[in-house]
Amino acid sequence: MALLFDKQTSRWLLQGKNVSYGLGVDQNGTLKHLYFGSKLPFVSDLPDVNTAIHHSSFEPSGGILQQEYPAWGGMYYYEPCLKATFSDQVRDTRLVYKEHRINEGAQSDELVIVLKDTHYPLLVHLHYRLFPEHDIIERHAVIENIGQDAITLEQALSGTWHAPRGDRYRLTHLAGKWIEETQIYQDEITPGKKTIESKRGNTGVQANPWFAIDRGTADEDQGEIWFGALGWSGNWKITVEYNPFKLLQVSGGVHDFDFSWHLEGGKSFQTPVFSGGYTRGGFGQASRNFHQYQREHVLPKPIADGVRPVLYNSWEATYFDVNEQGQTALAEKAAAIGVELFVIDDGWFGERHHDRAGLGDWTVNPEKFPNGLKPLIDKVESLGMKFGIWVEPEMVNPDSELYRNHPDWVYHFPNRPRTESRNQLVLNVGKPEVQAFMFESLDKLLSENSIYFVKWDMNRSFSEPGWLDAPKEIQKEIWVRHAQGLYDIIARLREKHPHVAFEACSGGGARIDLGIMRLTDEVWTSDNTDPYDRLYIQEGYSLAYNAQAMMCWVADSAKWVKNRPTPVAYRFHSSMMGSLGIGGNLTQWSEEDLEESRHWIAEYKLIRHIVQKGNQYRLLSPRAGNTTAVQYVSHDQTESVLFALKYPQKFGNPSPKVYLRGLKEDALYNVTDIEEPVSGSALMFRGIDLNLYDDNASKMIKINEVKA
Ligand code: GLA
Repeated sequence: MALLFDKQTSRWLLQGKNVSYGLGVDQNGTLKHLYFGSKLPFVSDLPDVNTAIHHSSFEPSGGILQQEYPAWGGMYYYEPCLKATFSDQVRDTRLVYKEHRINEGAQSDELVIVLKDTHYPLLVHLHYRLFPEHDIIERHAVIENIGQDAITLEQALSGTWHAPRGDRYRLTHLAGKWIEETQIYQDEITPGKKTIESKRGNTGVQANPWFAIDRGTADEDQGEIWFGALGWSGNWKITVEYNPFKLLQVSGGVHDFDFSWHLEGGKSFQTPVFSGGYTRGGFGQASRNFHQYQREHVLPKPIADGVRPVLYNSWEATYFDVNEQGQTALAEKAAAIGVELFVIDDGWFGERHHDRAGLGDWTVNPEKFPNGLKPLIDKVESLGMKFGIWVEPEMVNPDSELYRNHPDWVYHFPNRPRTESRNQLVLNVGKPEVQAFMFESLDKLLSENSIYFVKWDMNRSFSEPGWLDAPKEIQKEIWVRHAQGLYDIIARLREKHPHVAFEACSGGGARIDLGIMRLTDEVWTSDNTDPYDRLYIQEGYSLAYNAQAMMCWVADSAKWVKNRPTPVAYRFHSSMMGSLGIGGNLTQWSEEDLEESRHWIAEYKLIRHIVQKGNQYRLLSPRAGNTTAVQYVSHDQTESVLFALKYPQKFGNPSPKVYLRGLKEDALYNVTDIEEPVSGSALMFRGIDLNLYDDNASKMIKINEVKA
């Protein structure tokens, strides 16, 4: 990491390829944020660390500061990162600079700045890891009690990002609901606070832990963007706060709602990682930088280095009605069209004939699979595919052996109902015995069967979050302990079964975040597999997250919106923009449709490295007109692929035109549909006509540099 430090003025400057991040310690020992924006060459370019806004007796006497990790204490009124109660009931924290160090790491170096309380034995280690080639900074805090007596943490965020003083800011964020995930919202930021959050126990779909800030004028290609995402799959919050002095801060981390952490002497609390970036290149560049960072530094290695296989998933074909014969028939069809990984979804275990029973009993149902899974797996493998399986380990149906044996393993309160949702309850993953059960049942499943893929589902939010047989002081820790337990179990399974890839699913896209992405190779974006609705979901997802990890199924035509049948090509083009999966009932597809599917899967295999690994350009947004166009370009700019999909055509309107991006201006490219090779400049500045006229017309256009 390029790190400049000026000892005399106590200022640090972290240098990325195009960004700088500046910090400093003022005369009172307070760690201040000094700068985050376009690259500055020298430490002396940073503002004076002792400048502050002085206003009135209603504001802090030392002036209004952009504190790097503000604690609640003294006259501090904005969102704090830290709020603590000491053993003598003092509820006021004063953090000053203690020291800094550099940790050299394999992937990148890390700056650690240590703050200490002026009186109490409390340290805060602020970790900064900069990935210069992507202009992304990872931050987290470790809060350490170096005394004897316990300290109660009531708020312990990962960090606060600051934008420069500015007159106008806009927030872009992702929100939605089940079957309508990751929709894009943009709001003008006015003085006050806006919080996006989850208090449901999981990441949630109502909001996604990603944000972007701009000055109200940025678009896909230009404009300053500050953005970030939390790596956390439990309760979280991101608070955007704009004060009357035109300072904007974005704070985020574990939600403080119903949270406290009993920090015993000698112990530490580590916050989730908050990754953030800055670019002048608009939303498009912000996404590309973030995607590349995720592929290289977030998704689990070594699996992330490869391309994702084309998978088949049985859910929409058979729902709970799975058995050896039916799955074999599907596997044969899937293999014949080029599928590489066959995944059996819900219904294979216990008495799971519907969603009212069986969850928690992770043994193969003997009526459905009289000889276990082996004959099906052997068949799948003989067809040249790998085998994958669905599980939902954090949950239990009351009608299950697991619950009958361990009714105390779920979160619950006495004198209150155990609220069921989808007929299920949430296991208390904080409990060591629950963790042991989850690990052992999955370890057994993976050890006894040739399984290469696990779809890890989670189909309800929490309620009655009680764990009353645990000590009183850790009651409100369940929100954090659940996510920590989940991470730990998947990490241990990965370590023991390194060939197994994981998909994070939560009734669709309710568990998409950078925390789970460190442990899973892909995420399920939505249970809505309508190819048109998906364009919106995928566009929102792509603002924050990479295409390699985005699983997209081709479903049956008119599966969801009954009066909207779509051609095979349209469904494939919509799904080929991420990791391709097939989710339809192939036994019902005509020979002609299967033949066409075979064609598109073969095409996908030729271009998937560009989609999954390349730079993504959102050329036409579904929100802006009747055509969506998304282009992917390889890093060496020699190969590109464009997907364009049209929906209702207005009579007499011309076919849409697009201006490509990311190509070499002087290079010549062969383009599907265009007879003569054309230059990158022509494709980008003259543009190309998509020649899409009909409703649901769609295209894949390949662009390849002419080899010398
Ligand atoms: C959730 C998932 C679906 C499917 C079902 C199975 O809804 O999102 O893809 O796995 O559970 O019950």
